[in-house]
Amino acid sequence: MAESPFKANILSGKVALLTGGASGIGYEISLQLGKHGASVAVMGRRRHVVDAAASSLLSLGIPAIGIAGDVRKREDAERAVDSTVKHFGRLDVLVNAAAGNFLVPAEDLSPNGFKTVMDIDSVGTFTMCHEALRYLKKGGPGKDPSDGGIIINISATLHYTASWYQIHVSAAKAAVDSVTRSLALEWGTDYDIRVNGIAPGPIKDTTGISKLAPEEIVSGVSETLPLYKFGEKWDIAMAALYLASDAGKYVNGTTLVVDGGLWLSKPRS
Ligand code: HXC
Repeated sequence: MAESPFKANILSGKVALLTGGASGIGYEISLQLGKHGASVAVMGRRRHVVDAAASSLLSLGIPAIGIAGDVRKREDAERAVDSTVKHFGRLDVLVNAAAGNFLVPAEDLSPNGFKTVMDIDSVGTFTMCHEALRYLKKGGPGKDPSDGGIIINISATLHYTASWYQIHVSAAKAAVDSVTRSLALEWGTDYDIRVNGIAPGPIKDTTGISKLAPEEIVSGVSETLPLYKFGEKWDIAMAALYLASDAGKYVNGTTLVVDGGLWLSKPRS
């Protein structure tokens, strides 16, 4: 893992809430936001996982709490944002990293299976944004009148083309990207909130890779990957730092693709 190119105080005094923030890419973003000055609330469905993540962050000197909750339940979303502000006094950054996924041919996927992933990824993202708005808007608790917050939605590149056995996730992430743009327009204009996304490519040591990319696919991918290597969770976290910090202050409504150029590549002919 390379050293961060960002100064350690770029998020000093900021408070972040991350769904899916206790494991995988979400945890790495929690860690890096914390290492750069933020206090961090990690939300996830499993109590023991969020508690372990919060303990790890605390052991590094990062102010952190774990919140058990499911983004599909509006009351959990409301409780997560309220608990974060109750504990840390404000909310500046919301990262929506919670996602559901499994490989399944469309003909074998039940409508409820499709809906389940839409509910987690798309509706869950909207629900969290909606509940967080009252704290993220400029002039919200702990904020001055010109200090709007930041939302970062973790997406994918599956839906730029079409992806085998991922009809549910592709549809869900397309909706996430659309939510990113609509909120950037409305809440950027009205509340000075910047809303952006990050679309990771294949990232080493993640559930995404172990669940979705069997070994035979992984070995073939490196031949068509323009940078000839997989990404690291760190790469996604650095993109999040850029978007969450003042470095990204004029960036709104975009989804930053962090995939080494994979989605646009084809096998060499
Ligand atoms: C077919 C499935 C299925 C599977 C669930 N379902 N798993 N269908 N194949 N493998 C169907 C069920 O049959 C059911 O429909 C419906 O989905 C709901 O299933 P439940 O098990 O009741 O849902 P739930 O317990 O809420 O779990 C939802 C879940 C979630 C989506 C399966 O637990 C999950 O995926 N957890 C893993 C999270 C994860 O992997 N995160 C990393 C994501 S990586 P019926 O009709 O039977 O009622 C990522 C990367 C994206 O997002 C980009 C990649 C490049």
